[in-house]
Amino acid sequence: MKVLGIETSCDETGVAIYDTERGILADQLYSQVEMHAEFGGVVPELASRDHIRKLLPLVDLALKEANCTPEDLDAVAYTFGPGLVGALLVGSTLASTLAWTWGIPAIPVHHMEGHMLAPMLEDNAPDFPFVALLVSGGHTQLVDVRGVGQYKLLGESLDDAAGEAFDKTAKLLKLGYPGGPWVARAAEQGQADKFRFPRPMTDRPGLDFSFSGLKTHTLTLANTQRQENGEIEAQTTADIAAGFQEAVVDTLLIKCRRALEQTGYKQLVLAGGVAANIRLREKLAVEADRKGWALHYPRPEFCTDNGAMIAYVGTLRAQSLVQAGGSNHSYEIEVVPRFPIDQLPAVETL
Ligand code: KG4
Ligand code: ZN
Repeated sequence: MKVLGIETSCDETGVAIYDTERGILADQLYSQVEMHAEFGGVVPELASRDHIRKLLPLVDLALKEANCTPEDLDAVAYTFGPGLVGALLVGSTLASTLAWTWGIPAIPVHHMEGHMLAPMLEDNAPDFPFVALLVSGGHTQLVDVRGVGQYKLLGESLDDAAGEAFDKTAKLLKLGYPGGPWVARAAEQGQADKFRFPRPMTDRPGLDFSFSGLKTHTLTLANTQRQENGEIEAQTTADIAAGFQEAVVDTLLIKCRRALEQTGYKQLVLAGGVAANIRLREKLAVEADRKGWALHYPRPEFCTDNGAMIAYVGTLRAQSLVQAGGSNHSYEIEVVPRFPIDQLPAVETL
């Protein structure tokens, strides 16, 4: 089975083709980062317009890369949410139109399920059950994953997501956009224990997170370090970046440890844009070694938004549709800015 996957939930246009026999056959990505950088964040209307410009040419490129024609495809999968509604509408409309024209099912895919199962695309794929730490620009969640579509939310951020905290810290320190990679780069030159940072909500039980206090702490600290001209010295910027990153990483690590103790599972999956963070990977790897857990994460380009994860989850859901007789699908275009991951339908058989 071959499935075309389309991702347009935010500022990346991703198109990929997944084949059950041969894996990823094509993976095309266009990032709008340069366009939004000027504004210091994603401008939703500009994002939608750019997806319109880039999507169809990328579908063409993906078909060429995979050496496929539309007749070779069995389904078209697309992100239905969560994300920016205008941006999602571009992908869902094109995906449903192509699927209808080609006479194959259109499969709506949850963006965070895409992130969460992306490590399955790697050679050393995790087995069910596992705990997933989903850390992206819009989400910070711990999920008990028992199978495809069998998810139980264990905890989540009550305010800012981890990626959002990185982005806001980068803005405050006048580093680039999107913030995560810039903060990580600045942190390499910094001393993480130069300033004291809190590890929010780690002193009380539970698996929820809160990063807005850490953001305020960073803002207050930065203001005390400004010189007369209002700028912060490069070394101080690096020290703040390192201290902030360490605080986020420690907080995530403490909650992962708790989630694994609570579930009794021995596998941890790290996914979403912040999963590309080297310090987070390093510290979780040391902890995993110590505790005897298996740690899985996707290659960096499958941590941030991409079409491959949507094509992959689309394939799992298309297979289950075929097994159920194949008629239970529609071309209705329905996108949502939010959708709880634990309300997705389970996929019984693969
Ligand atoms: O998964 P993603 O591409 O999009 C969403 O679904 O939100 O995640 C983007 C987020 C941004 O907040 C970005 O700053 C963060 O992931 N990010 C990182 C790194 N690379 C991307 N955060 C920390 N360290 C990184 N290396
Ligand atoms: Zn994402």
